[in-house]
Amino acid sequence: MDIKKIVAEMTLEEKAGLCSGADFWHTKAVERLGVEAITMSDGPHGLRRQEEEGDHLGMGGSVPAVCFPAGCATAASFDETLIYKLGEELGKECRAEGVNVILGPAVNVKRSPLCGRNFEYYSEDPYLASRMAAGYIKGVQSHGVGTSLKHFLANNQEHRRMSSSSEMDERTLREIYLAAFEEAVKEAKPWTVMCSYNRINGTYAAQNRKFLTDVLRGEWEFDGFVVSDWGAVNDRPADLEAGLDLEMPSSFGHNDARIVEAVKTGRLSEEVLDQAVERILRIVERSRQGKKTAPYDKEAAHALARKIAGECMVLLKNEGVLPLSRETKAAFIGEFAENPRYQGGGSSHINSFKTESAWELADKTHVTYAQGYRVKEDGTDEALLKEAVDAAKKADVAVVFAGLPDSYESEGYDRTHMRLPENQNALISAVCEANPNTVVVLHNGSPVEMPWVDRVKGILEAYLGGQAVGGAVLDILYGDVNPSGHLAETFPVKLEDNPSYLYYQGEGDRVEYREGIFVGYRYYDKKKMEVLFPFGHGLSYTEFALSDLKVSAERIRDTDILEVSVDVKNIGSRPGKAVVQLYTAPPKEGIIRPVRELKGFAKTELAPGERKTLHFALSKRAFSYYDAETGEFRAPSGRYGIEAGFSSRDILQSCMVELEEDRPPGTRIGMDSIFLDILKKPEAMPYVKEIVAKMDVEGAGSGESMGEGTKEMLESVLGYMPLHALVSFSGGKVGFADIEEFIRKLNESGIF
Ligand code: BGC
Repeated sequence: MDIKKIVAEMTLEEKAGLCSGADFWHTKAVERLGVEAITMSDGPHGLRRQEEEGDHLGMGGSVPAVCFPAGCATAASFDETLIYKLGEELGKECRAEGVNVILGPAVNVKRSPLCGRNFEYYSEDPYLASRMAAGYIKGVQSHGVGTSLKHFLANNQEHRRMSSSSEMDERTLREIYLAAFEEAVKEAKPWTVMCSYNRINGTYAAQNRKFLTDVLRGEWEFDGFVVSDWGAVNDRPADLEAGLDLEMPSSFGHNDARIVEAVKTGRLSEEVLDQAVERILRIVERSRQGKKTAPYDKEAAHALARKIAGECMVLLKNEGVLPLSRETKAAFIGEFAENPRYQGGGSSHINSFKTESAWELADKTHVTYAQGYRVKEDGTDEALLKEAVDAAKKADVAVVFAGLPDSYESEGYDRTHMRLPENQNALISAVCEANPNTVVVLHNGSPVEMPWVDRVKGILEAYLGGQAVGGAVLDILYGDVNPSGHLAETFPVKLEDNPSYLYYQGEGDRVEYREGIFVGYRYYDKKKMEVLFPFGHGLSYTEFALSDLKVSAERIRDTDILEVSVDVKNIGSRPGKAVVQLYTAPPKEGIIRPVRELKGFAKTELAPGERKTLHFALSKRAFSYYDAETGEFRAPSGRYGIEAGFSSRDILQSCMVELEEDRPPGTRIGMDSIFLDILKKPEAMPYVKEIVAKMDVEGAGSGESMGEGTKEMLESVLGYMPLHALVSFSGGKVGFADIEEFIRKLNESGIF
């Protein structure tokens, strides 16, 4: 396809038309020029392909498909290869169903546990989110099918999602919210990026030139098209100008007409329109490689969904109760044992071709079942509670299947609290009374408070584990699969502990991100706060030890790559998979930064007694913060910790490296500069002495009336003094001309 030629041959009307959908899921074809339509379909954790009438709320029907674990779960795998495999499978399914672009992955940072869509998102940590997204994108696209990385940008709540403005400073944007997209775009090159509904610092994402063009294309070299979230377009010509290429779904001709008119009246340059058309055509062209293939094997995909779910679930607590033996007399209690909640509501909702529950697959000769609660009600049903308690009493182990009902978390609205339904908390307490060996299996898309945490012997976080969740839960409960998931988010003790708590949901449409960069563990660790379960936490049925942390150099420049290695050994008696996390700990002085930040991770399988060396490479970015003044990521000179562990609170190996910044930004001394900053450069001392001599402070500080600490006080008064204040502090002995001369000398000295 000669794209330039086609654009030249298209009429203005055809070009305007190509920039919005033909219907809910297709772009427009231009038959006379051989331009085919492309088909998009929701993901991210399965295919929601709709045949005829479409909708973006997950209400209408869709073709039966396979529901894989949702993003909340797959991120907990800490396994890029696994996510790649999931991507590959989805790519295959897309081809079989004639889908050219799947709408995912969704990488928005989990700012608050309350966000209704957290179940679709990956993590509170942008590095982890971006790595997971990269794996997914590469997997899908290896089949000649595109992805749509979403929702760009700062779409961290559902409340007023189409009008709210996420207000934050540049550093927070760069280090947290943009960073979640950054590596995924740079490394995995998604075919498309979906802009979000909300505004960022007042400007709609759809209309935000800074992010859609300057950052995405300019800085990150994105070469695909930007598509609007469904209905996120505001002012079509302005959106095009900002870099939004495709409006979805159809605008029913209204915006096509507006584009034509804007070009004719000169409001929009035709070149901008041509550029958008070219970008869309390039993806149309790429899509031609991914023609429809034979139907995929749904049963094999179901088996894969079970395997993936088993790799994601997080064993939060285990006081010797798990794994169960096949002979254990177990009582499965709770409606989720029979009807598990395994996906969330909204546009990602999959029409699963089948589902399996733990109860359905359980060995009924050793397991009994009691419903315990009604999932659609919050209040306790005394008869069900009694039946559950009786079942628990008769069993060796009681396994309560709890979690959040559909109505608690979904696209479109946020949770209002972090609790389980009342009847479930009451049930767990009552079962604990009846049987000391109680295990809780959780089905939820984001953290819940656990008032019973100290009373149960085991907790398995199954998250929203996809249609094969039942089998995967059994695999773990009975030890056929050794749990290896680790939390991609902190579980706070209570909602009020969360750093965004004071500001979450905002005031009207103004949502201030006042906690700044201190999201998730970056906050809890800095505050040394007690948490329920820390970021990165996850147990196994075996045990691992870390040793021999090594770095390629103890002194580096920020332009170097630091090679890090650490040994991990299985010191238990079962094979298992370890997740080793690598954090960097910035210097405490100077810039306000988190205690540690995740910069690498690796998952590896080890037989009992086996030991492996894991390798990591850290570049400048792993040590950097975003300096809003210079507009770049900088790693200031200083001593940095290199830490390896099994969670952000379980650091087992660490060492220090001395880093030197290659080109620290220069400082210009001016009237507002203070002595403390000037004297950070010892070479400036002779100049300072010269001007201090003019002040004639001889004898100052001997005044007894000023009490102890006078010398320190004088030093700090001088230290914090801006140069312009010298005039009054010297009683007029130093004049402005002296200060100007001093400034000139310093600036010319080459010291700064
Ligand atoms: C959602 C997107 C989704 C789109 C299409 C929107 O409402 O925010 O995530 O891909 O609809 O269904």
